[in-house]
Amino acid sequence: MAERNITIVEEFILLGFSDLPNLQGFLFGIFLFIYMSILFGNGLIIILTKVSPALQTPMYFFLGNFSFLEICYTSVIVPRMLSDLWTQKRNITLLACATQLCFFVILGCTEFLLLSVMAYDRYVAICRPLYYPIIMNQRVCTQLVTGSWISGIPVMLGQTYQVFSLPFCHSNKLNHFCCDILPLMMVACGNTSVLEILIYGGAVLYIMLPFILIIRSYFKIIATIVKLPSAIGRFKAFSTCSSHLTVVILFYGSAIIGYSRPKSKISGTDKVLSLFYTIVTPMFNPIIYSLRNKDVIDALRKLLPKSFGSANNK
Ligand SMILES: *[C@@H]1O[C@H](CO)[C@@H](O)[C@H](O)[C@H]1NC(C)=O
Repeated sequence: MAERNITIVEEFILLGFSDLPNLQGFLFGIFLFIYMSILFGNGLIIILTKVSPALQTPMYFFLGNFSFLEICYTSVIVPRMLSDLWTQKRNITLLACATQLCFFVILGCTEFLLLSVMAYDRYVAICRPLYYPIIMNQRVCTQLVTGSWISGIPVMLGQTYQVFSLPFCHSNKLNHFCCDILPLMMVACGNTSVLEILIYGGAVLYIMLPFILIIRSYFKIIATIVKLPSAIGRFKAFSTCSSHLTVVILFYGSAIIGYSRPKSKISGTDKVLSLFYTIVTPMFNPIIYSLRNKDVIDALRKLLPKSFGSANNK
């Protein structure tokens, strides 16, 4: 009797943080501040790794590219979020939603892959120091980076295509601040089994596999470090990878918790958790890398007087 009213959804409403009506201005301020610091901090890292002679090593090449990636990744999410908070209009067309999803998941894959490339770089530097310049030559570095950027594309295009070939009939309200896979699956009807296979396959290929590589690299790194004769040597070797390890734990921790329970109800905690890997980690990344890293701080010190000096000379 109660035939469900199947209307074709033409646009979605991103509910975002509309459950906190009194905090809209406050949230706008906070997210604007976070976004600005992401642009500033990561921009600074890109510039430093490009211009500073002391930072012309594979590790900083990867770091510079990772900062560039963080800027791209947050720019897919945050500007849209800010405009929703500002205008209080939350509707998004299917095409815009598909575009956002597509870039979001492709760049997400790049994050995981690039993090494992960076772990591999540390592994070679610490466990194979003599071969490091040969193994990590410029060509290999460029190939590794390019591979990280493009290898997520086919599977993630497939995922996006699969999601948007489903009919959406439960509702057009997405209880999230961006078009992510899980909120979209909640409102999709029809057969989601192909999509679920793609999601699990994608998670194994782009999250679990890089994770195993990272763990493996760190096991070997630690095994090498504990065998080093001097305590200073141990400390130095470990300090070059502790920043990377911190970023890995932050990023993987939140992403694995967030994605390991598909089809659950997206709750307030899930939204906060996704905030963690979408904007909080990118914000802390430059801080983690610069505060704990003498080379980066020195490069910054050298850069600053020079640019002030040339400004004064004009
Ligand atoms: C990072 O690598 C990608 C792919 O090779 C490239 O397109 C991009 O320009 C690089 N960005 C920086 C800042 O090095």
